[in-house]
Amino acid sequence: MAGNGTYTVTVLLDVNNVQDVDDRAESRTYLVADRESRQAVIIDAVIENVDRDLRLVKELGLTLRYAVETHIHADHITGASLIKDATGAQIVYGPGAQDVVTGADSFLSEGEELRFGRTAMKALATPGHTDGCTSYVLPGAVFTGDALFIRGNGRTDFQGGSAEKLFDSVRHKLFALPDDTIVYPGHDYDGRVSSTIGEEKRFNQRLNVSIDKHTFVDMMRRRVMPRPSKMDLALPANMKAGRIDT
Ligand SMILES: [Fe+2]
Repeated sequence: MAGNGTYTVTVLLDVNNVQDVDDRAESRTYLVADRESRQAVIIDAVIENVDRDLRLVKELGLTLRYAVETHIHADHITGASLIKDATGAQIVYGPGAQDVVTGADSFLSEGEELRFGRTAMKALATPGHTDGCTSYVLPGAVFTGDALFIRGNGRTDFQGGSAEKLFDSVRHKLFALPDDTIVYPGHDYDGRVSSTIGEEKRFNQRLNVSIDKHTFVDMMRRRVMPRPSKMDLALPANMKAGRIDT
């Protein structure tokens, strides 16, 4: 658990979606708790891990106010609807998801803040991995979803992905945050937990500040990756905020 100012962040790994080395989801879920009020937000919950996550919420004496999504995931089904059913937490997406997702309680607009206790978390549209990708900014930290990874970035070859948009999102919006802002990514495939904006400006493989847009777009165009194996299951479920028809 790490904290800054009014809140703490607990990083939760996805141990259920590790299939083989070429098809690892390695998704990250974050539990952000306001220290004083014990109100909390869960970001990018994974359906298989909901029981574990809710046990932790209970142990820590937290009231879960919101289940927040950075985007419509292709590699796992979100736990947002199960969490809502169990706790009454409101399901929240960022700008750009309202035309695609049903079953959410609200869609934040650009710059809008989600308040829980004395903590305020701001939505920042960071399209490029998908067209509706949103990062969430706290004082001193940012949850970047699949826009910016530690030393890398999300793929841009489906769901309205655009290398041009991703470059602008990272370089002009995320890199405009203070250098000491902690970066919590949507995935990490090398067991790392966090980075900082300053580190990524210097060391990100494809998006460090010495790389121009044309070079980045070219690198992304040449990148060939297999489809996530759960994509055909995950996309329709996630377009309903993780609600699975029975
Ligand atoms: Fe993704």
